[in-house]
Amino acid sequence: MPKTTAPFRCRTCGAGSPKWVGRCPACAEWNSLAEAPARDPGAAARDPLDVPTPIGAVELAAHPTRPTGLAELDRVLGGGLVPGSVTLLGGAPGIGKSTLLLQVASSLARRGATVLVATAEESKHQVRRRADRLGAVEPGLLLVADHALPDLVTHLDEVGPDVVVVDSIQAVHDPALPSPPGSVTQVRECAARLVREAKVRHTAVVLVGHVTKEGTLAGPRVLEHLVDSVLAFDGDRHHALRMLRAVKHRFGPTDQLGLFEMTGAGLAAVDDPSRLFLADRRPGQVGSVVVPTMDGHRPLLVEVQALTSRSSLATPRRSAEGVDAGRLAVVLAVLDQRVRVPTADVDVFALAVGGVQLREPAVDVALALAVVSSRTDHPLPADLVAVGEVGLGGELRQVAQLDRRLAEAARLGFRQAVVPWSVETAPAGLALRRARTLGEAVGLAGLPFP
Ligand code: TYD
Ligand code: MG
Repeated sequence: MPKTTAPFRCRTCGAGSPKWVGRCPACAEWNSLAEAPARDPGAAARDPLDVPTPIGAVELAAHPTRPTGLAELDRVLGGGLVPGSVTLLGGAPGIGKSTLLLQVASSLARRGATVLVATAEESKHQVRRRADRLGAVEPGLLLVADHALPDLVTHLDEVGPDVVVVDSIQAVHDPALPSPPGSVTQVRECAARLVREAKVRHTAVVLVGHVTKEGTLAGPRVLEHLVDSVLAFDGDRHHALRMLRAVKHRFGPTDQLGLFEMTGAGLAAVDDPSRLFLADRRPGQVGSVVVPTMDGHRPLLVEVQALTSRSSLATPRRSAEGVDAGRLAVVLAVLDQRVRVPTADVDVFALAVGGVQLREPAVDVALALAVVSSRTDHPLPADLVAVGEVGLGGELRQVAQLDRRLAEAARLGFRQAVVPWSVETAPAGLALRRARTLGEAVGLAGLPFP
């Protein structure tokens, strides 16, 4: 019997080490090495000593992916789930994580995969009821309702699934560990064990993780470096729109956006988001401007609105919903100082319609034009979009990927675009209104000065 090669193991990432060191060589976590637990006798056998290999001699592994059949998810994953990988799906409670994964599980099962869903939070009956509503009942989709990690591993042995969904990792615990269920140690250890199981079994594992209000995975931030991919599922509770992004992804891009709409029959793909965002728009409304934004590589046309109303407060209100409060403050200061459009005596309410969060400076000009439109009670042309960053000197600055933004605007029937001066080419049918300064932009948009 050969000597065990990795008597120490990192509690965070599960990597083995022949001797104890203060910092894990694999994940760089401090003080995370512990003696490999004796209750896992198979691990050493499955984890043979590696051979130092010149980097050029290492095979270029192509990651085979298993498409889930949900186009919006596959777009974010860059093809699909990778066998042997672990994906963490994070999101606030109630956002739709369980719904999404039940749909994913059933879609995979429909495509011939054996999928095991471990529902550690809801009962099997609850999941069955939801599956009926979603049309997600498939013979290849198996349910277990266990919380204990050894039981899950037993089911992996029994079923040998291609894909495993654990909903949620926070509800799973290992009775062999001294710490209480739900504690950081428990969550981390259980996830680390599932990472190892995924690797040795070549099974794709998806873990659900709840996110706290502050936006971190409740307790175990550590999970993020333990897993291969981290997906964030978010959206405004009061809107049906849900956004899926890869925060970390070892097998593909992290700048793709998946868009879903929560409907009575589960999550539906949104393939024409701009149309969705503009569906309720009333053209010719005062204080409304459409801006071609980008989310990753995806152009989105979003309506930005502003309302100014006489304030009775010593410090007038500034409210920003879906737009950045800091950018709004800059835009108002520039309007006041460089364009002579004062707003010191009015409350300003600004918002992005549809529950999206617009954080990029490309929204500046649209925000400014919306404020001037409201201030002067003068609508903008219904077929106009505006895009550009506003500098503190009142100058308009270029933003990234303008061609894609303008192409999307042209596709949806817009005919004029207020853009920074340096923009030279426009898609067919779209006339450029090129402005050097915010003052020029106001004039080119056909707005009067107050
Ligand atoms: P859920 O997937 O349980 O959220 P999470 O797992 O992230 O906590 O979804 C919760 C919400 O989704 C719930 O408030 C009801 C709503 N919902 C729909 O609107 N339509 C549906 O078809 C389903 C299944 C849920
Ligand atoms: Mg859930």
